[in-house]
Amino acid sequence: MRRTRSDTQKTYEVSAGLFITFEGPDGSGKSTQIRLLGEYLMGKGLDVIYTREPGGTRIGEKIREIILDPHSTEMDPLTEAMLYASSRAQHVAEVIRPALAAGCVVLCDRYVDSSVAYQGYGRGIGGIVAEVNAIATGDVTPDLTIFLDIGPEACFDRIGKHGGDRIESEDISYHQAVYEGYLELAEKYPGRFKRVDGSGGVRVVQNAVRKIADEFIEDFAGRNKT
Ligand code: TYD
Repeated sequence: MRRTRSDTQKTYEVSAGLFITFEGPDGSGKSTQIRLLGEYLMGKGLDVIYTREPGGTRIGEKIREIILDPHSTEMDPLTEAMLYASSRAQHVAEVIRPALAAGCVVLCDRYVDSSVAYQGYGRGIGGIVAEVNAIATGDVTPDLTIFLDIGPEACFDRIGKHGGDRIESEDISYHQAVYEGYLELAEKYPGRFKRVDGSGGVRVVQNAVRKIADEFIEDFAGRNKT
């Protein structure tokens, strides 16, 4: 992470990359919030890249098509979990690890926590998801995770307007289990997994996101001075 502009209040001098992931139910507004945070951090002179899962690479986008195809109704939960993990392995190797090594701030729309919530809790296949993902990602774990907390009913209303892919089309009980998975992750990892109330307007949510990111980056920079 490099901060080069002199018109900012503070100067961070660190060489390490910073990996920030965004999590939340479908329809929680992650994409908008990531874009706005990226613009904000770039405005501070940081080198920022955006990426997303499943996908983020040419191969990953092909895997994404298979996973999210509404016609793939017969897909076994383990197949599903391993496809997400395969897409992730490629993403880590091709995009995330090199960007972190180059000192970038990597903003990633979903990562391993999505698999834990959607496959582990949603599909009920539990701990095997973490095992598969440990193989897929190695030592590339998020420094900070921003969880947009908004209940499944509210998200359902938002998604309903757009139709949906195979996962989005699951019923409310599936999305409720996913949501409960996220709440358990928040309890398990209070240090990196930060909850933001996602029910407010875009600006209100973004202000809360920026506050968390600012505090985290300042602390991170203090710990990683060159
Ligand atoms: P996408 O259109 O990217 O949804 P969103 O904008 O909400 O992120 O579709 C990704 C879908 O895949 C979404 O429903 C969540 C699901 N998913 C998993 O089930 N497991 C995973 O590991 C990931 C990354 C996503």
